[in-house]
Amino acid sequence: MEKKERLPVYYSEYLQLDKILEAQFPESGKEGLKADDEMLFIIIHQTYELWFKQILHELDIIREIFRQPNIPNNSPDIYNSVHRIKRVSRILDVAVMQMSVLETMTPLDFLDFRDLLRPASGFQSIQFKMIEAALGLGYDQRHGKAYYLSQLNEKDIARVKKAESDESLIVLINRWLERMPFCKEKRYWQENDGSEYWKQYRQAYANSLSETEQANLKLFDTLFMGEGGYPEGRRFSADANKSALFIMVYRDYPLLHLPYELVSSLLEIDELLSMWRHRHIHMVQRTIGKRVGTGGSTGAEYLRGAADSHYIFKELAELTSFLMPRNAVPKLPEQLVKDLGYN
Ligand code: HEM
Repeated sequence: MEKKERLPVYYSEYLQLDKILEAQFPESGKEGLKADDEMLFIIIHQTYELWFKQILHELDIIREIFRQPNIPNNSPDIYNSVHRIKRVSRILDVAVMQMSVLETMTPLDFLDFRDLLRPASGFQSIQFKMIEAALGLGYDQRHGKAYYLSQLNEKDIARVKKAESDESLIVLINRWLERMPFCKEKRYWQENDGSEYWKQYRQAYANSLSETEQANLKLFDTLFMGEGGYPEGRRFSADANKSALFIMVYRDYPLLHLPYELVSSLLEIDELLSMWRHRHIHMVQRTIGKRVGTGGSTGAEYLRGAADSHYIFKELAELTSFLMPRNAVPKLPEQLVKDLGYN
C-alpha cells in the first residue's frame, strides 16, 4: 500500500495557540481602567475550564465502558476505568493546588475590576455543573435548586439538563454492582441464595457493636436485609450495597483487587471535589467576605451548603461503618474462594 503523504505538523497550529492565546480580553482594558490582576483572573478560569474539559472527556469514556450490559473479567475495561478515574483525581489535585496562584491576588486587587464582571461567575461554569451531573448529582440532590440555573442562558440550561438526563456514573456503578455474581449465584450458595451468609455477617456485626452504636444495626438491616430493591431515599440498591461491602471486605482476593480500586477511586473523587470546594470557599471568604457573589447566590453561605451536600458517592463511603476485623467475618464457600483467586 502506498504511504500517504502527511504535511508536517507545526506546534502552534496543532495546539491552536493563535485562538487560545488571543482569548484574553480584560473588561478593565475595554474601559481604559488599570487592573493588572484581571489577566491572572481570566487565565486561571480558562485553565480550570480546560481541565474540566479533560475531566468530562474521561468521564465520557468511563461511562461508555459501564454502559455495556456486561463487562467480562478478562477485558481491559475495568483496569481502563480505574486508570481514568485516577487520572481525574490527579487533575483535581492540580485544581486544588491552583487556587494558591489565584490567592496571590489580594481583595483590593480584585476590587479594581470585580464590579465589571457582574453577573458573570464560576456559578455559570457549565462544564463544572456537567461534571457534577455526569458523576451523579441530579436535580433532586442539588443545594440551591431555586437558582442554580437562574443565571444561565437558554442554550446552557439545555446543556445542563441534557447532562442531568444522561445516565450518570452513580447509576451505572449501581447497576454494575448489582450484576456482581458472588453474593447471589446458586453455584456458590447451593441450597440457599446467600442470605444465610448475610445473617451470619449481621450477627457478627451485632456482636462487634458497642451499646452506643446499636443504631448502626438498624441501618444495616435497612441497607442489606431488605427484599432487594432500593432502601428508601437511597441510590444504591440492597444488592449493590451487598456487592460493594463484599468488595471492601474481601478486597485481598485477586479478582477483587480492581473492583476495590474502583470503589476507592470513586471515594477519592468525592474527597478531592470537597477539597476543591472548601479551598474555593476559603478563597471566596478571604476575597469578598460576606458580600454576595457576582452570580446572584448568597455567596459563601450557598457554597458551604453545596460543599456539605454535594458528595456523590456518600452511600459507598458510609459502608465502611459495616466493616469488621478480618477474623470476625464469616467464611466463604470453597468454590467461591477458588473463583476469587488466580486459577
Ligand atoms: C476571586 C476569585 C473568586 C471568587 C471571589 C469567587 C466567588 C464565587 C461565589 C461567591 C460563588 C457562588 C455563586 C455566586 O457567584 O453567587 C462562586 C461559585 C463558583 N465558582 Fe467561584 N470565585 C472565584 C474564583 C473561582 C475560580 C478560579 C473558579 C474556577 C473555575 C471558580 C468556580 C466556581 C464554581 C464552579 C462555582 C459554582 C460552585 C457550586 O455551585 O458549588 N471560582 N464563586
